[in-house]
Amino acid sequence: MDLSVFNKQKLTKTCPHGNGEKKLLQSNTIDMTKTGVVYVCQHCGWKSLKWVGRCGGCGEWDSTVEEMSTGAGLGCKSVTLNRELPQPITNVQLLECPCIETGMEEFDRILGGGLIVGSAVLIGGTPGIGKSTLLLQVCQYISQKGYTTLYVTAEESVAQTKLRAERLSILSDNLLVVAETNLDFILENIHNTHPALVVIDSIQMIYKPQLESSPGTVAQVRQCAHELIVNAKSTGSAIFLVGHVTKEGIIAGPKVLEHMADTVLYFEGEKFQCYRILRVVKNRFGSTDEIGIFEMRKNGLLPVDNPSEIFISLGRRIIAGSAIISCMEGTRALLVEIQALVTRANFGIPERKVSGVDYNRVSMILAILEKRIGLKLGGQDIFVNIVGGVQVDEPAADLGIAMTIASSFKEKAISPDTVFVGEVGLAGEVRSVNQIEIRLKEAQRLGFKKAVIPKDNAKGIGKDLGIELIEVCYLSEAVEIIG
Ligand code: TYD
Ligand code: MG
Repeated sequence: MDLSVFNKQKLTKTCPHGNGEKKLLQSNTIDMTKTGVVYVCQHCGWKSLKWVGRCGGCGEWDSTVEEMSTGAGLGCKSVTLNRELPQPITNVQLLECPCIETGMEEFDRILGGGLIVGSAVLIGGTPGIGKSTLLLQVCQYISQKGYTTLYVTAEESVAQTKLRAERLSILSDNLLVVAETNLDFILENIHNTHPALVVIDSIQMIYKPQLESSPGTVAQVRQCAHELIVNAKSTGSAIFLVGHVTKEGIIAGPKVLEHMADTVLYFEGEKFQCYRILRVVKNRFGSTDEIGIFEMRKNGLLPVDNPSEIFISLGRRIIAGSAIISCMEGTRALLVEIQALVTRANFGIPERKVSGVDYNRVSMILAILEKRIGLKLGGQDIFVNIVGGVQVDEPAADLGIAMTIASSFKEKAISPDTVFVGEVGLAGEVRSVNQIEIRLKEAQRLGFKKAVIPKDNAKGIGKDLGIELIEVCYLSEAVEIIG
């Protein structure tokens, strides 16, 4: 009987109860040592040697993803796992975590003090935002300090990278560049050059030849990232993975990519504006609320030392519908300007558009203004915007948002030397916020004379802040200030 025509998934076996005739039985346990590639259901773990539209185990549709089978795939060959034995926590020796400075204080701060040896950083952002520029600048600084850095450019040629490097005045022999997309060759290059820092630009372009799926697919991105990160951990080199973002703004590929990395950064900002915001969404070595602000110049990215000044226009015209708030971004306070425009809706359902703040939060504030203060906002188109493209999510911005809307509705301007801080409750009360002193110090530093704050916060504040405090219990008291 010629069995070669049958699928590899089927085994030949002599039936013990039969008359010795060979029967074909479906295998439950697939022998994966020969093939290396297997399709695994992401719901129940059922495996198949061929892609199937519907899982044979749980019946889920489109749930199988190509994976490398154990042994041939996960982890690269150079990795040797040392078995550790449990020990009393009192015996554990603390290690000094070696940190390499990146040359940009703004970048070091969001990384948690600098680039940690052996760490994996995932950096996402829309095309043209400046990911390659930033990482090339970091490579330059680190290579000038005598460390070898390897820049793997998977999207551009080495000549294009050189052109960019010349623009950034980066010329160091320690900065190695290679245009490569094959994972095996990249790992070989890392093995041969022993870099302190590896940049993969971008992970979606890298492919492992043993996997059938094309670069950028879930299976490829996950496998390649996993092997690169495991390699970085075992060799002690730091690794930056550049990731593209989907149109929803998240890093393309499996969510597990973010779980694998130690630090996940998002580079944001308007492509046509010169300011860029680097936001931390995950950091095993530092705070996740930090943001770094950079300015794109013709010779690269420059950290912005005084970020509050770019979000508020000092000496601006006094107009209705504008208020300054002091919000916390990680460990530091940032002053930003909120603008609102309230105009009578001409027909149909009034429009509500917000940018830079949470839509639901604004809806709640509108309801409070209507019910507790008595502002008739029902028939008005309302637009709320944060100047400079920054995103403010904390409740401490509530008071500022409410004041801006009230100011625009009443057509009365708020004094430009006043800053607002406070969360607004559904009863119209102004609730206390955290880090009030840091917020007020930043306002005072930038020349603000008055601060409207929650009464509950006033007790803990030192007397010598150099800013007049207007304490309020209810939103109505703050709105009365406008008149
Ligand atoms: P780039 O780093 O290529 O973005 P990404 O890697 O995120 O796609 O940045 C491209 C943009 O930055 C491009 O519009 C040109 C601009 N740019 C500068 O303004 N100054 C510079 O020094 C460099 C290198 C780029
Ligand atoms: Mg790029």
